[in-house]
Amino acid sequence: MILTDIARSFVDQAAAKRQQLATDIHRPRYHFLPPSNWMNDPNGFIQWAGQYHLFYQYNPFGATWGNMHWGHAVSTDLIHWTDLPIAIAPTPGSYDEAGIFSGCMVNNNGVPTIFYTATAEQCTVQTQAIATSADSLITWTKHPSNPVMRDVPAEAGQTRDFRDPFVWKEGDTWYMVVGSRIQDVGGVIFLYRSADLLHWEYLHPLLTGDIRQDGVIWECPNFFKLGDEWVLIISMHDGRATGTVIYVVGSYENQQFTPVYRGVLDHAVLYAPLSTLDDQNRRVLFGWLREDRTGAEMTRAGWSGAQSIPRVLTLDAQHRLHMVPVPELKAIRGHHQQLTAAGSLNVSAAAVDIEAQIAADGNSGLSFVYSSVTEEQIEIRYNAAAQQLIVTQTMRGADSAPITKVKQMPHSAGTTLNLRVLVDGSVVEIIADEVTSSTHRIYASAVGDCSVQLTGSGAVDVWEMPSIWQLSQ
Ligand code: FRU
Repeated sequence: MILTDIARSFVDQAAAKRQQLATDIHRPRYHFLPPSNWMNDPNGFIQWAGQYHLFYQYNPFGATWGNMHWGHAVSTDLIHWTDLPIAIAPTPGSYDEAGIFSGCMVNNNGVPTIFYTATAEQCTVQTQAIATSADSLITWTKHPSNPVMRDVPAEAGQTRDFRDPFVWKEGDTWYMVVGSRIQDVGGVIFLYRSADLLHWEYLHPLLTGDIRQDGVIWECPNFFKLGDEWVLIISMHDGRATGTVIYVVGSYENQQFTPVYRGVLDHAVLYAPLSTLDDQNRRVLFGWLREDRTGAEMTRAGWSGAQSIPRVLTLDAQHRLHMVPVPELKAIRGHHQQLTAAGSLNVSAAAVDIEAQIAADGNSGLSFVYSSVTEEQIEIRYNAAAQQLIVTQTMRGADSAPITKVKQMPHSAGTTLNLRVLVDGSVVEIIADEVTSSTHRIYASAVGDCSVQLTGSGAVDVWEMPSIWQLSQ
């Protein structure tokens, strides 16, 4: 097996790096993240020979964005991961010298085939490229015909933003969607087709956005059939920063997509999600949980970014996307406690899985308190009159004065609000009634004497969660 020095040293040092960073109170313990340094989008997610392979945008040289490589890890249960060597690195002086950007993987008659965006000239030239593996997805060979797609369609009116291929097969034909933008119009998803994965015919835009409200660039498209409908997931970038991830549901015939419904996939930090179909016929999605702090803070921490707990997607009769963390997570749940009325439960760490049903009456609320001393917390409640889910975080600033951040989002609950809340270090994933997702990053100044509190009426189940990594004590 031929591995570059950087790929080999990655695995040699992984366990030691994880050990070193394990005492960081902000670092998640049951969400996937690399041993150290920067991670963003999930890439190439696939189940292959019974194992789930997750690749990810990775900077091996620091805790801020840059030098994009594809990191790689493998799992049998979507929860416990084994670090593998870096899968793909830029080749200096070539079409991918400036970074290996996001993409996907397909099974081409038994040949694992990665599609990625190759970047050159300070990332201003973006083309689509292929790599294949002959050794169970560990080492990758870039295809001699790379890049297999060079030209941004002329109607884009620009040549810089053209990335994140997502490929699928219908009958004997391969299709690809690529994220881009049309100058002065808005984000766009371009549709292509191919008989051999090497020669691609441009068809037309699958969907185009409105620059006034839908971001400037559309990134990381996913397009797939779910039940009887088709779902297009789009990450909207505003030109300077990551924006919101939306999904569009509709019908798809003769390469034409007709939307019937549009929803928000996550209201806060989850970005650039990638889904795959597994052997249980589940559509499973990972999303990058970006940090909500400065580059200097990330560099000081020595790491940045986590992946969501993978979610199983389904659609309901109103075309809404339902998201449920994979049931495999329940297998690692530890100590269980329950509340059936207002009260408080002490937990040993900021690492819990919560299922709660609270009255959707405007008065009832669920909180996670990070420290009894600083009273830093995140609280979730429902405003029935405004039909809004309200997430309030109270943290302490440098002078220890409380700082409150409130996030309100549309949600229509029945009489009870069903919440799933995953707290893990600085990560908080909140999913209400399976359809409204708000994922936060919270950096409490202290973690100790943690508790889960219910005000008003409802019922709460709390499980303490272990580390998924084998660390020595
Ligand atoms: C989304 C994204 C992708 C790109 C990658 C680069 O977060 O901007 O469009 O391929 O990150 O790291």
